Amino acid sequence: MAEEINVGLIGYKFMGKAHSQGFRDVAFYFPDVKPRPRMKVICGRDEKGVTEAQKQFGWDEYETNWRNLVQRSDIGLVDIATGNNVHHEMAIAAAEAGKHIFCEKPLAMNVAQAREMVNAVKKAGVINMVNFNYRAVPAIRFAKQLIDEGKIGRIFHWRGFYLQDWIIDPDFPLVWRLQGDVAGSGAHGDLAAHSIDLAHYLVGDIDEVVGHQETFVKERPKLAATTGGLTAAGSSEKGEVTVDDASLFLVKFKNGAVGTFEATRFAAGHRNGNTFEINGDKGSIRFNVERLNELEYFDRSDPGDRQGFRVIQTTEGSHPWMHAWWPPAHIIGWAQTFTHQVYELMTGIATRKNPHADFEDGLKCQIVLEAVTRSSRERRWVSTSEI
Ligand SMILES: NC(=O)c1ccc[n+]([C@@H]2O[C@H](COP(=O)([O-])OP(=O)(O)OC[C@H]3O[C@@H](n4cnc5c(N)ncnc54)[C@H](O)[C@@H]3O)[C@@H](O)[C@H]2O)c1
Repeated sequence: MAEEINVGLIGYKFMGKAHSQGFRDVAFYFPDVKPRPRMKVICGRDEKGVTEAQKQFGWDEYETNWRNLVQRSDIGLVDIATGNNVHHEMAIAAAEAGKHIFCEKPLAMNVAQAREMVNAVKKAGVINMVNFNYRAVPAIRFAKQLIDEGKIGRIFHWRGFYLQDWIIDPDFPLVWRLQGDVAGSGAHGDLAAHSIDLAHYLVGDIDEVVGHQETFVKERPKLAATTGGLTAAGSSEKGEVTVDDASLFLVKFKNGAVGTFEATRFAAGHRNGNTFEINGDKGSIRFNVERLNELEYFDRSDPGDRQGFRVIQTTEGSHPWMHAWWPPAHIIGWAQTFTHQVYELMTGIATRKNPHADFEDGLKCQIVLEAVTRSSRERRWVSTSEI
């Protein structure tokens, strides 16, 4: 196993920056990381933009055509941090070129694409990972540990809410996240995808769903110029919003638990409230990403007169990944989940074993996304086995 692996990153905006930070920092905090990622090539279509990003983030070289990057013999890992409509063609080309792949979520635009991506990485035998980075929050990894130790017991309920508020203004323009042909879906694939993945990780597989999706603002000003990201300027011309603004659904898990989900970009006051609660016969856990270092834990075996949720600072050296950071309660943040993801990915490459979440997990999430959309459209319960 080579000491280093050359990385080619496609996309240099929000996630491009976050991933770059992960590659840049991983060996600083985890000196045992193997192989070490080399920030070789960053790719974007706009030469001026990509060269600025190259300098700011610290990449050796740049490309303006992702196909050139994927074909380069010196690249070992392709990282796809672009809008959802191009994940599929980029991942298939990277797999066919024998590259390991790190891909943003949601894995694809639909289940058919996701299945082809899973088949391509399997056929090529390359390591693959989807950036469901909330799995790399120490508090959430610790929650998984508590569940696996039986501390929550038989799980009855999952309650997962992912609430944002950035498009309440009807004059906010039609960015790619509001265009169905680029994003695939709205709050559903952007936000609920994270909650679904966490529910799969912490509770188990989903059997059936029933949901409702709503688009509150049906037309918005078209973009003044081609821009990306979460902020942009609008023009005087209007265009149709072709994604959901909010997605709400109930699920039955295969293990008998039941769950509720809500994802919206219209929850005033919630900037990025990714929260969940799990209730079992031995206890409960709850989490809010806006208080990322904390896990709340209720233990039913505590004496009745002192029962209550306790707030655990998941910053002890014994908590997942925390040995690499600071003394207890010297907290970490959202950006560090990318460092953890890169560490897991590098370990996967070294051991030839997919880290999680992998493309199969991404497909499983995509199946639930599609089942909910079908349920909302056809106004009925939909089984994941139908998809
Ligand atoms: N894991 C997370 O927490 C998280 C958070 C935000 C976004 N995302 C996901 O990350 C992906 C990117 O989102 P973002 O917020 O970074 O978007 P963004 O608009 O900030 O950046 C998208 C980038 O992709 C580039 N791009 C698009 N099509 C391209 C092409 N054909 N060739 C080369 N570059 C291309 C754009 O130029 C831009 O640099 C999406 O799939 C999104 O769902 C994940």
